[in-house]
Amino acid sequence: MRKRAVEVVFIGFVVVSMGACDRGQESAKTWEELKKGEMTPHQQAMADYAGRSRGLMGQRLMGTVMEAAEADGFGAAIEVCKSEAEPIAQEIAARQEIKIGRTSTKLRNPENQPPSWAVEGVESSRGEAFYAVSAEGEVGAAIPIHLAAPCMNCHGSSQHLAPGVEEALTEHYPADQATGYDKGDLRGWFWVEVPPEAVAVPEVSEEAVDKDDDEELSAGEALYVEYCAACHGRDGQGVPKAFPPLVGTERVEADPSALIVLSLDGVSGPLEVNGETYDGFMPGQAQLSNEKMATLLTYIRGAWGNSGGAVSPEMVGDWRAETADRTRAWTQEELDELTR
Ligand code: HEC
Ligand code: HEC
Repeated sequence: MRKRAVEVVFIGFVVVSMGACDRGQESAKTWEELKKGEMTPHQQAMADYAGRSRGLMGQRLMGTVMEAAEADGFGAAIEVCKSEAEPIAQEIAARQEIKIGRTSTKLRNPENQPPSWAVEGVESSRGEAFYAVSAEGEVGAAIPIHLAAPCMNCHGSSQHLAPGVEEALTEHYPADQATGYDKGDLRGWFWVEVPPEAVAVPEVSEEAVDKDDDEELSAGEALYVEYCAACHGRDGQGVPKAFPPLVGTERVEADPSALIVLSLDGVSGPLEVNGETYDGFMPGQAQLSNEKMATLLTYIRGAWGNSGGAVSPEMVGDWRAETADRTRAWTQEELDELTR
């Protein structure tokens, strides 16, 4: 066991130093700001691909960290995060043919610096995704990361940090700046660089381009696209074995309590949806106001043939108050209790 842990750390070290070289070369590259509304269809597809890749990475990383926390506590999970964060990023990068990482203005790991094109946007902390394009045609996407309930165990203020975390931080991250956050706070950013070859040029007819320009998304759909579609898909169908569908499921259409609490504080572990069992992790989106969350959830409950009723801001507010001190994602058993 000991020996294996040492090997993992060693691999992590090699990968980190390679990452550092990459970034060195990259600073010679020229990048320009790219506005979401001014993207070509290909750039748009590359930006969507960046969003899906960040979904995959967030999911893998938190799955690994939460598994370690359940087995040996959050203090031990700090070590797992330390040795696994970079290898997981490199694995997703290789599989997706991209570069990907996480950064922040208040770093835990001082190696997690943003790439050159993202420095200014990260520092401005405006909390919205932003994009850049390189002279070689790569699209860079920086996507904000907000603090969800389980993150409080390792990034919260001292009353929310789990036992053993302060000690583990002192040992492994003596210069740590990344505690004291509240649920919903902007914690940092995923940055993703997508080369043009990684994503096929979409075949878009002139007509479709015109239609796209005219298309005004409803407020609910726009929120859904921004906060949920990276994982559950524009059409709510999810991704087999990874992200469950939001169409025709009981938690989406019936009593909205489970939907509200899991959207605020996330859900993890085995979860049965329409007869399939998922075993992943979804971060909550507690940064959304009661109004925005209600608008978003009302949209989901009525979209794609779903027939659930509206969710009001008051319902979201009541559940938010009720679960204010929660520092864990929900489990299937707890969600079932709510609606029983
Ligand atoms: C088990 C404790 C633990 C939990 C839970 C945890 N983190 Fe972290 N987090 C860490 C550690 C350790 C690092 C440094 C990893 C490294 O060395 O790259 C880190 C790094 C980060 C970074 C990269 C920037 C930096 O400061 O180095 C971000 C962003 C981040 N965490 C966000 C989150 C969010 C959002 C959640 C909840 C979804 C979360 N973390 C949950 C321990 C944790
Ligand atoms: C980073 C990827 C990701 C994002 C973003 C995300 N989800 Fe999820 N979602 C998941 C995963 C993974 C699961 C399954 C979790 C498990 O296995 O415990 C899930 C499960 C769910 C479920 C339970 C499915 C069912 O019908 O029983 C609902 C509902 C849900 N998500 C809604 C949302 C909403 C609403 C948003 C946006 C506010 C959202 N999700 C954003 C990954 C994500």
